[in-house]
Parts: sequence; structure tokens; C-alpha cells
Amino acid sequence: MLIDQWQYELTIWIWLGIAAGTFILLMFVRAPYGRHERPGWGPRIPARLGWIAMESPCIIVMTVFFGIGASGWNLADPTGIIFYIMWMTHYVHRSWVWPARAHISGKKMPISIVLFAIGFNSINSWLNAEWIFSLHHPYPYEWLYSPQFIIGVMLFITGMGINIKTDDMLFALRENGEVDYKIPHGHMFKWISCPNYFGEILEWIGWALATWSLAGLSFAVWAIANLVPRARANHKWYLENFAEYPRSRKALIPKIW
Ligand SMILES: NC(=O)c1ccc[n+]([C@@H]2O[C@H](COP(=O)([O-])OP(=O)(O)OC[C@H]3O[C@@H](n4cnc5c(N)ncnc54)[C@H](OP(=O)(O)O)[C@@H]3O)[C@@H](O)[C@H]2O)c1
Repeated sequence: MLIDQWQYELTIWIWLGIAAGTFILLMFVRAPYGRHERPGWGPRIPARLGWIAMESPCIIVMTVFFGIGASGWNLADPTGIIFYIMWMTHYVHRSWVWPARAHISGKKMPISIVLFAIGFNSINSWLNAEWIFSLHHPYPYEWLYSPQFIIGVMLFITGMGINIKTDDMLFALRENGEVDYKIPHGHMFKWISCPNYFGEILEWIGWALATWSLAGLSFAVWAIANLVPRARANHKWYLENFAEYPRSRKALIPKIW
């Protein structure tokens, strides 16, 4: 345990306040990476390297807490092990598999964005790890049978499936070496412009339910704060850049928005 419970809770409430501020900011300023990358944000590095650097802290921080706090693969703590596997499945994919498979050769990303994301990911991973492997460790064995845990894990797996499948469909739009953008079709793209974000948000809502924690809730709120404004910007970008873009398609929530 690095801090007391009350210090920890105060930190999360401040963290939630920063998420709310970030949401408002991102409604006006598009984070400058991917299709919204633009000059004026300082020196840049290859995007692939940026993704690996900014997501890897999630693997390191969670593994340190898992190893120290929970003493690793301790079968007396099956819930902790399941949370560790869920987290690692997402972040090994996001940090190492996703950047290796994305068709982003030749694309750049500002170092400022990478540093911001390293800070965010380190704090977010610490808050979640601190709860699961220290302050609330171990979850009681019965938690495995609770509706929150079962529904949360199902949402997490469903969200991850949608996120990976639709990211894959975006990768498939480009031949090796291509960097331009095309209109995606099929799967949830029939209804919305950003099903990968929809899947990601579902994943972290599932995580919040399964862990039933302020840390999990704050991560779901951060995912919404980051991805709702970006879905809005991406959707607008598609409409502005493709005259033939399907007008019935929504940004993030099928049939609604
Ligand atoms: N939890 C969070 O807070 C959070 C925050 C940000 C991102 N993420 C996740 O990180 C992943 C990547 O995010 P992102 O914002 O980069 O997603 P994105 O804009 O949808 O791009 C995903 C990948 O597909 C490519 N791509 C997108 N649209 C394309 C099109 N129309 N034609 C051809 N290629 C296209 C992108 O290339 P370019 O890079 O060249 O645009 C990128 O490699 C997503 O799974 C997202 O959910 C999570």
C-alpha cells in the first residue's frame, strides 16, 4: 500500500474532475494524432514507436503490483488473477500487437501526446492496481459469482471483441505502405463511424462493473472523456472528406448519436 484509503479516494475524485475538464477541452481541441495530426505540437516520433511507448506503462505498473501486492499467481486470489489476465489481454494487445499490425508506417505523432499518454496510463494503471492488489486485496471468493462480476466480464469480452474486430477492418482498408483513408463498411460500421471506440468504452464499463470500484469507474469515465469527443471529430471528418459517406450513419451510438 502506497497511500491511505482516504488519500486514495481523494486522488480519484480529483482524477475524475480532471477527466471532466479533459472532456470539455477535447470537445474544442482535437488530440493531434492519427487523422487529426497537425503541425504546432512540437517534435514528432514515428507513430508506431509512440504507441508502444505510451501504452507499455500499463503492462509494467499492473505487473509490478500483481507481483508485489498479490504475490503473483496466488491461487487463493482467483479474482485478482482474472483481473490481471483481463488487463494484460487488453494491454499486451494495445501496446505491442496493435502497433505491430496497424498500417501506420511513415506516420508520426507528437512527443507531447506520447508524454501526456504515458502520464495518464501510469496514473490510471496505478489507481486500478492499488485497489485490486493492495487496498481491496483479496476480493472475497464469492465475488466470482456476483452479478456485477459476471455481467462486467461479459461486457469486457464483448467490448474487446468489437474493438479488435473493427480496428482490424480499418487496418484492412490500407495496403502495406498506404497512409490514406477510405470509407469502412460492414459489421458495426453499418450504423456508426467509430465502432472501435464503442467497443473500447464497453470494455471499460465492463471493467468498472466487474471490479465494482471507484478506480474502475474513473477509467470508464476517462474512456468516455477521451473517445466521445474524438468520435464526434472523426464522424465530422468523414462527412467533410467523403461526399458519398453514408448520411444515416451515426458517430458512436447506433441510431442515436
Ligand atoms: N481508452 C482510451 O482512452 C483510448 C484513447 C484513444 C484510443 N484508444 C484506442 O486505441 C485504438 C486506436 O485509436 P485511434 O484513435 O487511432 O483510432 P482510429 O482513428 O479509428 O484509427 C485506428 C487505426 O485505423 C486506421 N484508420 C482509421 N480510419 C481509417 C480509414 N478510414 N481508412 C484507413 N485507415 C484508417 C488508423 O490510421 P491512422 O493512425 O493513420 O489514422 C489507425 O491505424 C482504438 O482501438 C481506440 O479504441 C483508447
